[in-house]
Amino acid sequence: MKVLVIGNGGREHALAWKLNESPSVDKIYVAKGNGGTSSFCENVDIDPSDIEGLVEFALKEEIDFTVVGPEDPLCGGIVDVFRDKGLKIFGPNKECAQFEKSKEFTKIFLEKYNIPTARYLSFTDYEKAVDSLDEFSYPLVVKADGLCLGKGVIISQNRDEAVEALNQIFNERVFGQEGDKVVIEEFLTGEEASLLCLVSNNKLYPLERAKDHKQIFDGDKGPNTGGVGTYSPVKATDKLVKSLREVCDKIEEGLDKEGLNYSGILFIGFMIEDDEPKVLEFNVRFGDPETEVLMPRLDCDLFLLLNKTVDGDLKAEDIKWKDDYCLTVIMCSGGYPGSYEKGKVITGLDDTDKDLIIFHNGTKLRDGDLLTNGGRVLSITAMGDDLQEAREKAYENAAKIHFDGAYYRKDIGTK
Ligand SMILES: Nc1ncnc2c1ncn2[C@@H]1O[C@H](COP(=O)(O)OP(=O)(O)O)[C@@H](O)[C@H]1O
Ligand SMILES: [Mg+2]
Repeated sequence: MKVLVIGNGGREHALAWKLNESPSVDKIYVAKGNGGTSSFCENVDIDPSDIEGLVEFALKEEIDFTVVGPEDPLCGGIVDVFRDKGLKIFGPNKECAQFEKSKEFTKIFLEKYNIPTARYLSFTDYEKAVDSLDEFSYPLVVKADGLCLGKGVIISQNRDEAVEALNQIFNERVFGQEGDKVVIEEFLTGEEASLLCLVSNNKLYPLERAKDHKQIFDGDKGPNTGGVGTYSPVKATDKLVKSLREVCDKIEEGLDKEGLNYSGILFIGFMIEDDEPKVLEFNVRFGDPETEVLMPRLDCDLFLLLNKTVDGDLKAEDIKWKDDYCLTVIMCSGGYPGSYEKGKVITGLDDTDKDLIIFHNGTKLRDGDLLTNGGRVLSITAMGDDLQEAREKAYENAAKIHFDGAYYRKDIGTK
């Protein structure tokens, strides 16, 4: 089988790496891929959001199965376009991708099906939004409705800040048309967590849980990033497991009643307090970096799993896990998530342990040198019998890898 993976990051490297283990997979193309995927896949120079270019390539190369990493092509309708051409593809269709494309779409769904979430109002008009502020207490959360690369959520401590957030989105149009609508919602306290589910024929099959670390500095300080460290599994009380299943059941009911046909991954972001989960958001794709720790722990054939998901006949017992812990520390470019330089030479990879797994988030090869090519650069991933063993192994090896300005958190998995 010929497989095409769409995307450039650590998530796509991890997916391709796991697909490569499958006896059914003969060849993997990655568009565009990175310096890591090029070692065992063929990188294809087509942008992940170039749907026409990708479908043309898939037809020409007679690709048997395509896996979409990022949200952009999913929200742009790549799944519908591929299926129209008879090409098999893993991911939700354009209608279902609205769960990520529009925060209001998700809030309407959550409210309609009684799924716990923050109270909200949505607006298309600056004045009306400002008038509504008195209905909330502070802090409150202002969210641009659309896709904003993780920058569209502003937590406001007082009325002035909230008015300024609305001004930025509606009047200054800092997110362009992605800010045509705004969701204002109540601020939730608690611990953030996520649940990734394979969704096959509107049925949700939760994957094992992974803990993400969003802030750039130790102790969860500093600005948010795309995620700079993660580990799995994460323990949950029976009460929490039951509450999460109840949310999944309600989502299944809602998908059916709305006449949606969801297939692919549903990433549910939660705020959890006293084992009571409230939904923050839905994403319609694998999480990055969660995927970097889930793939090494998966104890079955990913290609078959994704195929069954698309065919609508996945069963819970198809999904198998290793007992081992897995932990990833992400080495970043100095300055990230602010401005940073690219093109630094990376050395030391050959000195790392043979059983260490290094997924590339942002690298490229030039004249035999491996260069940094993004804010997140390398996911240093280690397995262990327990969390401590995995953590020590990841950190020992991270210390052997060098590039100018390299930075990583020192406290992943210590909490
Ligand atoms: N209602 C809320 N209460 C508290 N924090 C929130 C709330 N909504 C969002 N956040 C914070 O903002 C972050 C981003 O919000 P989210 O809805 O996940 O949007 P996106 O990932 O698209 O930027 C969340 O991870 C969370 O830390
Ligand atoms: Mg989010």
